[in-house]
Amino acid sequence: MNEAGERHDRLRVDLGARGYDILVGEDLVATAGRHLAGLLAQPRAVVVTDGNVAAHWLEPLGRTLAGAGIAHDAVVLEAGERSKDYAHLERLLDRLLDLRVERRTSLVALGGGVVGDLAGFAAAIALRGLDLVQVPTSLLAQVDSSVGGKTGINTRHGKNLIGAFHQPRLVLADVGTLDTLPPRELRAGYAEVVKYALIGDAPFFSWLAANGRDLLAGDRRKRRHAVLVCCRAKATIVGADEREAGPRALLNLGHTFGHALESLTGYGDALLHGEAVAIGLALAFAFSARLGLCADEDADRVRRHLEAAGLPSSPAGLPGGRRSPDEVLSRMEQDKKVVGGEPTLILARGIGQAFVARGVERRKLRAFLADALSG
Ligand SMILES: NC(=O)c1ccc[n+]([C@@H]2O[C@H](COP(=O)([O-])OP(=O)(O)OC[C@H]3O[C@@H](n4cnc5c(N)ncnc54)[C@H](O)[C@@H]3O)[C@@H](O)[C@H]2O)c1
Ligand SMILES: [Zn+2]
Repeated sequence: MNEAGERHDRLRVDLGARGYDILVGEDLVATAGRHLAGLLAQPRAVVVTDGNVAAHWLEPLGRTLAGAGIAHDAVVLEAGERSKDYAHLERLLDRLLDLRVERRTSLVALGGGVVGDLAGFAAAIALRGLDLVQVPTSLLAQVDSSVGGKTGINTRHGKNLIGAFHQPRLVLADVGTLDTLPPRELRAGYAEVVKYALIGDAPFFSWLAANGRDLLAGDRRKRRHAVLVCCRAKATIVGADEREAGPRALLNLGHTFGHALESLTGYGDALLHGEAVAIGLALAFAFSARLGLCADEDADRVRRHLEAAGLPSSPAGLPGGRRSPDEVLSRMEQDKKVVGGEPTLILARGIGQAFVARGVERRKLRAFLADALSG
């Protein structure tokens, strides 16, 4: 409980008129009606979710919405990254129009990052913009994708290339929902938790080293603490740089490497996003150490921590066979964070000291990748 005796904490994302609260705690799905009642422009919502999440969490959400006098419909998508495409976006938009949503109807995204990104994008463009409430149910979505307003879909050219910034009106991060999340998905989300510590919070890394195991095993109090710390970090970064002109780029730590590996393995079950990020974090630190920017010991601590959490830390054993450094490099160069042809990497001077490194020498990066890929 927090000081007011509530089973959640409240954070603010400071974006002026587009600012919003993030509630982190327990029982937030079952009490969502109370939090939404005074916020919605009209007592009507469409809940967008996927089949896995609906099986556990749609009924309690529907009950609290009904209890608060909020009329609602539900759209249940197929689970999985494949739903984040043009075809599913079109189907969702048609469905919303069939339901005769009005400009003041809100969308509630109940699910992981796939639901949040797709429903969020639909909210951004349906009737030129509907209010959106994020109810993230995966660890990844709670600490990352539900906060910050990035929404979008994938195309055959790559991930998240079509989208919009559309900030939610409220985020309800109920750590109780993590009880039904498959363990592999939980671990993948944990990689993003570690990312925040590595970017700018060395004491949080020490906390994770001591408590990560309990968190992964189901300790709700520790889950709540970690989600709160991450959301606070993301809220601060987004408040300072909504559209990624500067410091928000730090959130890409581990992601330029990670996206390249995801793209090589086909964005599927072979390598989950968070698993690719785990390898990317280990690589970002190992490369930083190789360049003499950070101590070898820090790179080792990062790698060992990821491994202890059951996450991969090396690209050497990637599913689908060994990849060449040029394959990885070319995928890195296709990443949309490329500026003027050179990948902008996020590197580190130590744990909690990430920075934006421009003009990294391609030759050194290639040599590093060659070693990393050969294991
Ligand atoms: N918008 C952003 O800022 C941002 C940031 C990071 C990632 N993303 C996107 O997020 C997506 C990944 O998100 P994700 O890892 O949450 O994937 P996801 O939405 O596919 O969820 C992972 C799996 O867990 C299931 N699931 C989710 N919550 C559950 C629960 N409580 N109980 C049981 N099953 C549950 C889902 O059905 C799915 O099968 C990617 O598309 C990525 O691009 C967006
Ligand atoms: Zn990520």
